[in-house]
Amino acid sequence: MRIGKHQVRYPLIQGGMAVRISGHRLAGNVARCGGIGLVATAGIGLNSPRFKGDNYFAAEPLALKDELAKAYAIAPDGVIGTNCMVAVTDYAELVKASCEGGAKLIVSGAGLPMNLPELTADWPDVALVPIVSSVKAAELIARKWHKAYDRLPDAIVVEDPDTAGGHLGEKLENIGTGKYDQYATVRGVKTYFRDTWNLDIPIIAAGGIWDRNDLLHALEQGADGVQMGTRFVCTEECDADDAFKQAYLNCKQEDIGLLMSPAGLPGRALIANIDEIRERDLEMNPTCPTGCLRKCTYKSEGERFCIVHALDRAQRGDTETGLVFCGSNAWKATRIETVAEIFEELFHDEVPLAKCG
Ligand SMILES: Cc1cc2nc3c(=O)[nH]c(=O)nc-3n(C[C@H](O)[C@H](O)[C@H](O)COP(=O)(O)O)c2cc1C
Repeated sequence: MRIGKHQVRYPLIQGGMAVRISGHRLAGNVARCGGIGLVATAGIGLNSPRFKGDNYFAAEPLALKDELAKAYAIAPDGVIGTNCMVAVTDYAELVKASCEGGAKLIVSGAGLPMNLPELTADWPDVALVPIVSSVKAAELIARKWHKAYDRLPDAIVVEDPDTAGGHLGEKLENIGTGKYDQYATVRGVKTYFRDTWNLDIPIIAAGGIWDRNDLLHALEQGADGVQMGTRFVCTEECDADDAFKQAYLNCKQEDIGLLMSPAGLPGRALIANIDEIRERDLEMNPTCPTGCLRKCTYKSEGERFCIVHALDRAQRGDTETGLVFCGSNAWKATRIETVAEIFEELFHDEVPLAKCG
């Protein structure tokens, strides 16, 4: 698969997972195995030596560049990028730090990345990949980018709100109703770029892809590649604490649900401990501690919980009062595996194992 100027052996992106679930170890090892590894940027400063308690916004870009350098130490020739969420306050700074830190692509969602080409204008080789959940969103982005910046996306990730983990790009009441058709959206986006722009860019399906059968199904249904998140959590290389991985191993299908994030978007997570999350936040951060999101109901009205700290706590192993984001397949995890084992199972190829080491 080729995205912009960057070619990988396998048509697989490891989805960005904040806060620090996909850091340098996971992204670096996925890239070393021949996929695209993404470092998730949201909240990356928090559990880093750069963070001194009161310098969240200064710490973030520095921590991100540290993380990219460490990922490239694992996979010097790999394709490593970042995931940048439009909804965060320091979006522009994280996009720029991604470019300065050597990200080869930026995958961007949680809002429409309307000004991404402007922010990356000095780095034309950085491939730009919006995440959408409708053909209309892809059209809006393409029209705006073409008109304002004479640029078009290098690929599109189509994320399925009925299965993906983390924040979702669909109204809560529409999720799980059967209204959304993931592969109709994938094919619709593909046709739109072909017919309107004469452009054959990779359209990448994300959400609910767990094993080789799911991968082959996605490719048969018209996707050029896949983005996978949940499957990579229970790996030795995933950057989350063991307790976070254990929460996946212990969970049942009925423990996975939807919640409204203070960011104003629905999210998929393990939802049994929502009350504990809120109680801990009221105790620890009775008012918004950082202003990490542009729009946040915890910041404006003290509603729900502080998402960045709830995710950070879970990443560090406090799964009782932390928020464990996950896709609808998390219950399928039965053991901790290696990234190389996942590649071998997905692609039935002996070569990458030798490469992965
Ligand atoms: C723990 C977790 C955290 C996530 N964080 C982010 C994020 O920071 N930004 C983002 O765009 N997507 C995020 N996602 C979505 C993934 O990148 C991916 O697209 C999605 O989970 C794919 O579905 P799957 O998990 O079923 O493979 C997250 C998913 C999980 C499971």
